[in-house]
Formats: sequence, C-alpha cells, structure tokens
Amino acid sequence: MIGSILLLSVAALSPQDALSPERFARKLSRISPRPELRSDPTNAVASDEDAARLGQALFFDARLSPDERFSCATCHDPALGFTDGRSLPQGRGPLMRNTPTLFDVGRRRWLFWDGRTDTLWAQIRHPLESPHEMDGDRLALAHLVRTDEGYRAQYEALFGQLPELEDSQRFPARAKPMPEHREDPRHLAWQAMSASDRALIDEVLVNVSKSLASYQSRLETGPSKLDLFAEAYLAGDPAGGGHLSPEARRGLDLFLGKGQCTLCHMGPELTDEEFHHLAVPPLNDELPIDAGRHLGALLVKKDPFNASGEHSDQPKGERADFVQLLISDADQFGEMRTPSLRNVAQTAPYMHQGQFQTLEEVVRFYSTLEGAQRTGHHQELTLTPADFTAREEEDLVAFLRSLTAPLTAASWAVAPKEPSSSR
Ligand code: HEC
Ligand code: HEC
Repeated sequence: MIGSILLLSVAALSPQDALSPERFARKLSRISPRPELRSDPTNAVASDEDAARLGQALFFDARLSPDERFSCATCHDPALGFTDGRSLPQGRGPLMRNTPTLFDVGRRRWLFWDGRTDTLWAQIRHPLESPHEMDGDRLALAHLVRTDEGYRAQYEALFGQLPELEDSQRFPARAKPMPEHREDPRHLAWQAMSASDRALIDEVLVNVSKSLASYQSRLETGPSKLDLFAEAYLAGDPAGGGHLSPEARRGLDLFLGKGQCTLCHMGPELTDEEFHHLAVPPLNDELPIDAGRHLGALLVKKDPFNASGEHSDQPKGERADFVQLLISDADQFGEMRTPSLRNVAQTAPYMHQGQFQTLEEVVRFYSTLEGAQRTGHHQELTLTPADFTAREEEDLVAFLRSLTAPLTAASWAVAPKEPSSSR
C-alpha cells in the first residue's frame, strides 16, 4: 500500500544537492515544532495522574513475572533510553526483535515493529503473558493487585471494587489463554473458567493496562537542539540561534534534501507511522524470516482488545477507523514500522533486529545499501543508495545526534518513592 508507493518514489526522484531557502524553511516547519500530545480517547484514564502513578509502580515491579526475574524496566531501562541496549533482548526464550524505546511512546499510532496492536494499553498483555518475555498471566496479575494493599487501594479509587477472587475454584492462581500451548495447565485453567468470570478478569487486565499506558504516555521528551534551531530560524534568524553545529546544520540539509529521509521520517515525530521494507541484512542466519506488517495487520484487525473492540473507551472514532479500514496484503511482507528518530542517539542498537550498533553504521547503510537482502514481493520497490560522501555521512550523524532531549518530567524515569504497601 502506502509503503510501496513511497518506496517507488524514493527510487524515482533524483537526489538534489541543495535546497532553496524557501524550500528549506517549508520543510523545516514540517518537522518542528511538535504539537502537544493528544490524549488517547480509547483510554478513559490516559490523562489521569493517579492512574499514571499506579502504572509507574507496576512498571518497575518484578512481581509481574512469576519468578520475579523481569519487570517492564528490565528491558525498558530508563538508564538506557528505555531500551535494553542489546540487539535482541534476553528474555526467557528466544526473541527476534529489538526492544524499542518508550520515549514519546504515547504518540505512536501502531505499537511494535509490525504494528500488531493499535493502542498502548492493548499492547501490555503481549510482554506480560508471552512465555518468552515475562510469562506472567492475567489471573496472577489480578491476584497481585487484590492482595497488595497499596495496589488495591489505588485500583479501587480509580475503577471501583475489584471482584472477589478468594474462591480458588472460580479464580485459579494462574491462568491465561494460550492458544499455541493448549496442553499448558494455565490454558486449561482458563478454559475451565466461566465466561462471566473470564470477563471479570479481562476487565482487571484492561484497567491495569490502561494505567500502565497512562504512565508510559508521560515519557515525553522536551525540545531538542533541532527544535531550538527551528524556532529561531523560522522567526527570521538565519543562524538559528547557533543551536546546531555547522556539521549538524549541513546534516539537516541532507536529511531534508539529498538524503530524502523525510519521505518516511516525516512530520514532527520524524515518522510517517507507516511500514516499509528496507531489506536491512539480517543480524544472523539463524533468525527466522520476519513477516512484519503482513502478519501485524492481520493480528491487530482480529484482536478483541483493539481500538474498535468492547474494551475500548471510544469504539467508534478515529482510532477505531484506522483499524477497521486496515488492509493486509502480501505486499506488506517484511515491512517494519518507521521508527521515530527523536532521541535516536540514546537508543542503540538500531533496526528491528538491532543489526547496527552505531548511527554511523545506519547512515553507511543508507549510503551504500550494502548487503541489502530482499524478502517477499519487493524486488523492484526498494531504496536506491544515497551515495553520501564521507563528510556527508558524518554530517548526517551529527544531525541525528541533535535530536536528543531529556524527559519533560524526570520523576517518571524512576520507581515511585512510596512503593506499594506490601513491599
Ligand atoms: C524481555 C524484554 C521485555 C520486557 C520484560 C518487556 N518488553 Fe516491552 N518490548 C520488548 C520488545 C522486544 C519489544 C518489541 C517487540 C515487537 O516489536 O514485536 C517491546 C515493545 C514494547 C512496546 C511498543 C513500543 C513501540 O514503540 O512500538 C511497549 C509500549 C512496551 N514494550 C512496553 C512494555 C511494558 C509496559 C512492559 C511490562 C509489562 C514490557 N514492555 C516488558 C521487550 C520487553
Ligand atoms: C522508505 C522509507 C525510509 C526512508 C526514505 C528512510 N528511512 Fe530510516 N527507517 C525506515 C524504516 C522502516 C526503519 C526501520 C527498518 C527496519 O528495522 O528494518 C528505519 C530506521 C532508521 C533508523 C534506526 C532507528 C532505530 O531506532 O532503530 C535511523 C537512524 C534512520 N532510519 C535514519 C534515516 C535517515 C538518516 C534517512 C535518510 C538518509 C532515512 N532513515 C531514510 C524508513 C525509512
């Protein structure tokens, strides 16, 4: 779809060396300033401070995984730009995609490299319940929130009374749907529950997830050097207040001009929120071929927790339309979401398998496309090498480093001071 058309136009446009001042200003005004974050209408507690505080405590709580080995922050470590700093995460089992940052994650339209969820809250149950990640389950989560006095009080103030879970016949200690492991005792325990009890548990899962989403949407970053430069430049100062080094300033020209980066890294978030196949060489030969958006689009459409489903607080609206109108076709095979480039200098390694350790390697790839490996149906629809000179490559990297900015509220980057009461 859109991805293929853009890829075609990359190949068809001839690179330009310099932009006129008018075109430069016009293009600059499209990437800065950033608009305010829009609250997620599918999550009624998205803007609620108390929900965010509950979510913050849960984010740093290793009890979400049964052997207490993993909290969300284990892989999304604030000290490493909310990533794990590895090409592929060290989970409980093999994982085949790089851990994305959570900086500005409240602004994403689709979550995950393949966009298989469409809201921040629907995303949570994947890491929580995946046997390869935390291997938790929704029953254990509900029991934790009910037995921990701090969580229980916070939860009930937000969402009303928790269901009575004492009857272990009705509410086993551990259970979740595991369609791929039908013999697992937790799957069997889930199957044995009544539909109405399962619905009660799903509601707790969704409410907890919406609190975690409310927390994560506060991981907003402030203005970067690019934004300070743009503000001054667009106000009439050709030096842009001196906020960019000469290298980064030249890199910005390349980013908007010859490099054609804004065909995909467009708008103030420096992403089109769409999916493309760059044919980046795989990290190693052992990893399976990744269907990317092709499967992601199918999964999000049939996800009962999507923006148009019964758990959404706005099942008819813009976000619901995105998923309702979505098409999955073979052309999307291998496509990955265009990442935002804000704070990119803090979130190495890069690409969906962490194939590149440094920004220098990324830019080198765009320059030469060396080793590009195409899968699926994209043979003719690919990027062409940008053929940067060595100095241009350095300039682009300097520009990418100018996109760094701290969190607007640093207090969200640490575990809450008063942990939940039973700790
Ligand atoms: C074992 C490491 C690991 C743990 C633990 C983990 N994550 Fe992740 N997270 C990942 C990986 C890997 C991805 C990307 C997976 C993909 O794209 O298929 C991801 C993706 C995400 C995304 C999507 C970001 C984006 O830009 O699309 C969010 C949000 C997220 N995780 C939040 C959480 C939360 C909340 C928890 C705790 C409940 C958590 N993660 C636990 C590794 C982990
Ligand atoms: C055709 C769309 C497209 C164009 C044009 C494009 N990118 Fe990308 N970019 C992507 C996609 C998609 C990914 C993720 C690819 C993957 O993981 O397989 C990506 C990844 C990146 C990353 C790694 C980010 C991370 O967090 O892993 C950087 C840095 C980057 N691009 C910079 C650039 C620069 C600089 C240019 C211009 C020279 C450019 N891109 C042009 C679509 C594009």
